[in-house]
Amino acid sequence: MLIKATIVAVLVVILSELSESKIMDKCEVARALWQKGVPDWEVPTWVCIANAESRFDTYAVNRNTWDYGIFQISSLWWCQSGDTPGKGCNLSCNSLLHDDISTDIDCVRKVYAETEAMGQRPGFKAWTTWQPHCSGDNWHWVQGC
Ligand SMILES: *[C@@H]1O[C@H](CO)[C@@H](O)[C@H](O)[C@H]1NC(C)=O
Repeated sequence: MLIKATIVAVLVVILSELSESKIMDKCEVARALWQKGVPDWEVPTWVCIANAESRFDTYAVNRNTWDYGIFQISSLWWCQSGDTPGKGCNLSCNSLLHDDISTDIDCVRKVYAETEAMGQRPGFKAWTTWQPHCSGDNWHWVQGC
């Protein structure tokens, strides 16, 4: 019994390290956004987008579209694949796969601003999940935080 439990515990540790995921909760995401000075009215929508894009998984990688991190930032435009910084956010995509999402937040602010500069308003339109899932009232995403 004890041996079985030990084996299970070891497997759980190995598997969780292999899959490298950290699932944040909605209030951790909201606090990170507030700490970076993101405008109050935008915060619930960013939390909604993080849920819709990655279910709050800071290590999420979409291997079809090559989007990275909790906000699924695109390597086509915004981050350079691998470890070298580059593209629109001057970041390596791997640097977006961290427990600390502050660089992700800097990058999504830039994506937002550049999307608006191209006449697409609000800048959330850069995320395909925004219109179907996050364009309504998102207040509940920060309720109780
Ligand atoms: C990109 O970031 C690197 C450091 O990560 C810096 O050395 C470089 O000057 C930056 N390039 C631009 C265009 O901002």
